[in-house]
Amino acid sequence: MAVLFSPEEFTKLKKELVLFSCALKNMEMRVWTLLEEFQNLQTYNPIEHVKTRMKSPESIADKLNRRGLEITAENARTQLTDIAGIRCICSYARDIITLADIIKRQPDIKILRQRDYIESPKPSGYRSYHLIIEVPIYLTEQTERIPVEVQIRTQAMDFWAALEHKVRYKFNDDMPESITKNLWECAEQISELDKQMFEIQNMANSTREKK
Ligand code: GTP
Ligand code: MG
Repeated sequence: MAVLFSPEEFTKLKKELVLFSCALKNMEMRVWTLLEEFQNLQTYNPIEHVKTRMKSPESIADKLNRRGLEITAENARTQLTDIAGIRCICSYARDIITLADIIKRQPDIKILRQRDYIESPKPSGYRSYHLIIEVPIYLTEQTERIPVEVQIRTQAMDFWAALEHKVRYKFNDDMPESITKNLWECAEQISELDKQMFEIQNMANSTREKK
């Protein structure tokens, strides 16, 4: 049976979610600013597109439950770091670290956690760069620091993750070994594809320079 917030906790949660939503918009604006700069003031734009999402109250309750925590607004606020999520899709794997470094350098952002699943892919084959950062939200009386999960990956990595997620969902996390192996192999092929596309771009650049 689905676990839910009690009516009192749900009222409190909705107030907390306003802050998370502000933090997400704030982060989106920062990435949008970079995108404007790359597109208009620089010669190269590493960002293909950006997606944001807020975790639903049902998913928040579900995650707290899976972690054996009480379904309260306070636990949602203090124990979960992926209520607000932004995903930046880059052209090439090399752009991922470039973008991550730019974000990490912003002086009012605090880095809570960073995971390079490109250097060290997950056993599933999943590749992506994850940052958990804290964004300051300036309210009338106080400043709130809210966690936002930033996922940075290439289009190819994103394509794999989206389809793998759908397959995994069908099996309720109990995927047959043969499918797990197949998906892992696809992830390897996709990584090769990313490398090849990058080499093609390099070749194209150096050919153009010689002309
Ligand atoms: P969660 O409890 O799922 O948030 O995991 P975590 O706190 O250990 O963080 P982690 O960095 O491992 O993963 C966070 C997010 O990355 C997930 O919510 C997914 O969006 C994505 N992710 C991680 N592993 C996989 C995977 O094997 N496949 C896919 N499709 N996505 C993954
Ligand atoms: Mg998550």
